[in-house]
Order: sequence, then structure tokens, then C-alpha cells
Amino acid sequence: MAVEPESLQWSLPVPSVQELAIQGLQTVPPRYVRDDTDIIITAPSNPSLLVPLIDMTKLVNPDSHEQEIQRLHSACREWGLFQIINHGVSDESLSNMKQQVQGFFDLPLQEKKRWAQKPGSLEGYGQAFVTSEEQKLEWNDMIFLRSIHPLQNRNLDFWPENPPEFRKALETYSEEMNRVAVSIVRFIAMGLGLEAQEYSETYRGGMCDMRINCYPPCPEPERVVGLCPHMDISGITLLLECGDMPGLQVLKDGHWVVVEPINGALVANLGHAMQIMSNGIYKAPDHRAMANKSKQRLSIATFCYPNSSADIGPAEKLIKPGSPPLFKTLKCEEYFHHFYNRKLEVSFIDSLKI
Ligand code: OGA
Ligand code: NI
Repeated sequence: MAVEPESLQWSLPVPSVQELAIQGLQTVPPRYVRDDTDIIITAPSNPSLLVPLIDMTKLVNPDSHEQEIQRLHSACREWGLFQIINHGVSDESLSNMKQQVQGFFDLPLQEKKRWAQKPGSLEGYGQAFVTSEEQKLEWNDMIFLRSIHPLQNRNLDFWPENPPEFRKALETYSEEMNRVAVSIVRFIAMGLGLEAQEYSETYRGGMCDMRINCYPPCPEPERVVGLCPHMDISGITLLLECGDMPGLQVLKDGHWVVVEPINGALVANLGHAMQIMSNGIYKAPDHRAMANKSKQRLSIATFCYPNSSADIGPAEKLIKPGSPPLFKTLKCEEYFHHFYNRKLEVSFIDSLKI
């Protein structure tokens, strides 16, 4: 009998999808073929919906501030996902990060494996959440790094040293993502009528995890899934698309909507920690990534959390008569413990409901 991981902090080793893709297969191996009975996977798509676009300069400018806050509030309530432009991170920094990631996935397999996941740890190069030999696989390779921010908490064992500038780029990028998280959370808190400064401060020095995704071209993209439908557990996730090939989709009113890459923008989506803080006013959206036939797609997801001393629970100001707390309040550490030690089939957010 196969030995199976005891908690989700361990993933079984599986073949590299990039290596499969370069073999020039005409059909995908059975372990990647999804049956289409899954209701979420087969929800229809809606090509006419456009995800909201939030302009950070309009949030700051006194003339447009009120209106843009309202647009942000609606985006959070109705979508839980939006694109941010004019976020203050330089093009140079974004393109440097993309270049390093591209450089890593261009390396030979043996070299990439120097930073492979190890038994007992989810971090590193490989695939996440493979807990049984029978489990269907996703059409992606990835690097998962926990606590890339604040810098003192990182575990460099899994940080690639090739390309040589990778670590430096990641370090700078993580600081910048934390900065964007602090400022966007401030405006989100305003939209909820909260003490904006107080909430955004909990994200200062906040924790960030990172998942770098590589979706190689696939001979039969309609039979596989790049990344299964899921919700993030972050407060807010900031995703950088490395090219112009669409792949990310968000579930909106029962329809899958394609998130079209915008050069220089960051895609933001809310996670469970924000759903909890807003006491359910906002919801973490289901999202997924699809493979395509022609071109490899790379994306960099930074999962931003409050700092480790903050509690994760409904904001006090949102609790009033007729509006009781819907979720438990947990210490950050308890929150992660709970997530990684549950059964994969148990809904994380449901387990935190009161
Ligand atoms: C994720 C994620 C989407 C993408 O890594 O959590 O949702 O487009 N990624 O890669
Ligand atoms: Ni996600």
C-alpha cells in the first residue's frame, strides 16, 4: 500500500509537466484527464463580462477618491477579484521578477530539482497537495515558498539560486507586494466603513507566501485543468501574469469569466482571511487556471496575510445587533494550523463558521 502523507504539508512527488509537454504527446496521460461530472468545472463561461479595474491613483486623488472607493467596494462584494493599475510598483521591477521566473523554468530539470519539495514540506519546486497515488493531477509545475515576507522568516533552502539574481529579485518583489497589500487593504477597509489605518497597519510587516505557476502548452487543453477551482486562504492575493496568454478564470454568478492579462497590472483576489474580516460582506471567489495548446504561461501569486501578531476574525465594528459574528476568531498561527491539518475534502471556510 502506498504511504500517504499525514497532513497537507507534504505532497507526493509526481512527474514534471514541463517534461511531459516537450515529449510532443498527441494525447494527455490518463492521470491528467478530468471527468466532466464536476459541477464547478463544467459551469458555463460568460465571455461578455469584464472583471473590474481599479486605478490606485484615483483612490488617492481627492477628486475621485469617494467614487473609486465605491467601485472598489462593489468589486469586492460582487466579484472578490479585480485588476489594479497604477499600483506604484515599477515596470522595471515587475519585468525583472518575470525574467527571473522565466529563467528558472528554462533551466534543465536536474537543475530545477535542486530546489525540489522534500518529504514533510510543501515548500519548493514540484506540485502541491498530491496526497494519493490515485489523485488526478493538474497541468502545472510550481514553486511554493512560505513566509517570503517578512524576510527574517524565510527558509532559503527552497529559494532558487539559479538564475543568480533570482533571490535578490524575489526579496525586492516581496517588499513591494507587501506595500501594495498595505495600501489596498486601507482602501478596502474604508469601503467597509472601518478604521482604515488600523486595518491596513495589520498588513504592515505582514506575512506573504508565494506560488509561482508554470502551465506548459498542452496537446488537449480542454481535457485537463491547469489549476483546479479553489479559493485562496490569504487576506488578499496579488497575481502577476508573466505574458499575455490568458488562463485565469473567476466564477461570477455561476459563470466562468476569463481574466484578460493587462500589461503592468496586478490581479487582486480576496481570500478567506478577508472574507472573515468583512464578516461575510465580501467573499473569496472561486478561481481556476486553464491550460492552452500553444504557449507556456507563467504566473506569480503572492498570498498576503496580516502580520503574525494580528488575529484573524470579523472586524469588531461590523458586529452589531442583527449582525452577529459569522466566523471564529483565530490567532494567525492557529489559522494556518487549522488549514494544513484538515482533511482535503473538508471546506476550510465552513470549518471556521460559528
Ligand atoms: C494560485 C492561483 C492562478 C493563476 O496560485 O492560487 O490562483 O492564474 N493562480 O496562476
Ligand atoms: Ni488562487
